Amino acid sequence: MNIAVLCSGSGTNLQAIIDNVKSGHIPAKIALVLSDNKNAFALKRAKKAGIETLALNPEGYNAREDFDKELIKNLKKRNVELIVLAGFMRLLSPYFIKKYKNKIMNIHPALLPSFKGTRAIKDALQYGVKVTGPTVHFVDEHLDHGPIIAQKCVEVSDNDTEEALLGRVHKEEHNIYPEAIKLFVEGKLKLKGRKVVRG
Ligand code: GRF
Repeated sequence: MNIAVLCSGSGTNLQAIIDNVKSGHIPAKIALVLSDNKNAFALKRAKKAGIETLALNPEGYNAREDFDKELIKNLKKRNVELIVLAGFMRLLSPYFIKKYKNKIMNIHPALLPSFKGTRAIKDALQYGVKVTGPTVHFVDEHLDHGPIIAQKCVEVSDNDTEEALLGRVHKEEHNIYPEAIKLFVEGKLKLKGRKVVRG
């Protein structure tokens, strides 16, 4: 199966996916790493691994859908069957999401449905939760909302800092994201309503 990974930043999750593909743990090919930011370190990681990359500048498109149409063109060209969002900081249009229904995954650094949005670690710390952790989910039309594939608890200690907590959440992300992708690629994820079951 051909997969595409969409990133905007550092790409530590991308790296974990690359490593798992290389070792054969994920039986798939990363056909494309795409970014909306030409300076994303993720693109360097991909190039180093010999993976095709593409940077699309959103400023070159009038509407969100136009950008997404260009995206779709590039995904189709490479027969991509799974789209993995790994720190992709751009909202996808309903048009795109409909085209790839239940074929887009995202990872979020909090236990959804708590702490949606871009400040998840900070919000969890400020709220005073005792556990938090990453969530892998399918992407639907609503922000951080689609069916949950996997979650992992990370304990929050009394003196935690954002940086320390982020580091521990990331560590778990790098385990659960490749596992979720592996299950999808092997056809072992089934949707029952909004529940994802393994079978
Ligand atoms: C991760 O924390 C992920 O949960 C969020 O974006 C971050 C991406 O980090 N969606 P990286 O670029 O994979 O290092």
